[in-house]
Amino acid sequence: MVFVTEPVETDRLLLRPYEEGDLDAIADLLSIPKVMRYLFEEPLSREEAAATLHRRIPMRKIEQEGDRLALVVTLRESGTVIGTVNLTLRSEEHRQGEIGYVFHPDHQGRGYATEAMQALLDCGFQTGGFHRIYGRCDARNFSSARLMKRLGMRREAHFVENEWFKGVWGSEFMYAILKREWEVG
Ligand SMILES: CC(C)(COP(=O)(O)OP(=O)(O)OC[C@H]1O[C@@H](n2cnc3c(N)ncnc32)[C@H](O)[C@@H]1OP(=O)(O)O)[C@@H](O)C(=O)NCCC(=O)NCCS
Repeated sequence: MVFVTEPVETDRLLLRPYEEGDLDAIADLLSIPKVMRYLFEEPLSREEAAATLHRRIPMRKIEQEGDRLALVVTLRESGTVIGTVNLTLRSEEHRQGEIGYVFHPDHQGRGYATEAMQALLDCGFQTGGFHRIYGRCDARNFSSARLMKRLGMRREAHFVENEWFKGVWGSEFMYAILKREWEVG
């Protein structure tokens, strides 16, 4: 499986690979406590954000299990970076992928995450050859659970206290959708 995506345009957004020039926007986004609340990392310093950016710049194609496509989401009109999305190949044999997304609070509540993730799922199923794509979120992360539901994903699991998360036992939801379900819409 080899999957490289070109920058993707939607009505309002452009999804493209990370660039050196994204440091200010990425450092800002990943420093915000409420953005990082349900992610595994704590808010990042600028140095940590720079390291993250450099790890993500080469994440432009999927060739083998574990590879991740990491994209920055910008507003087409202004070029403003409003969030990030990713798709990881979790199993090559079973063609299973996992999604992730982070949006800046200034740009939440307008359907941008839905629009970006629809485009990414479309690439994953139409170009990438995935059979099933899933996402996991903290069971308290209602915005994330709502987003996956809006995308047409099915809640397949509620893992109860399955991980030690930021000092307490955390529970997780898993949502998923199959290629044939995506195509039917
Ligand atoms: C998860 C996250 C991306 C969801 O963001 P979001 O802004 O709620 O999602 P969208 O951009 O799709 O916007 C949807 C909201 O905008 C509203 N909306 C307005 N215009 C819309 C449009 N044109 N299309 C769709 N929804 C629209 C929807 O009604 C919805 O509001 P609701 O949640 O009150 O029902 C965001 O909360 C986030 O980045 N959180 C921090 C990081 C994080 O936790 N990531 C996930 C880890 S699992």
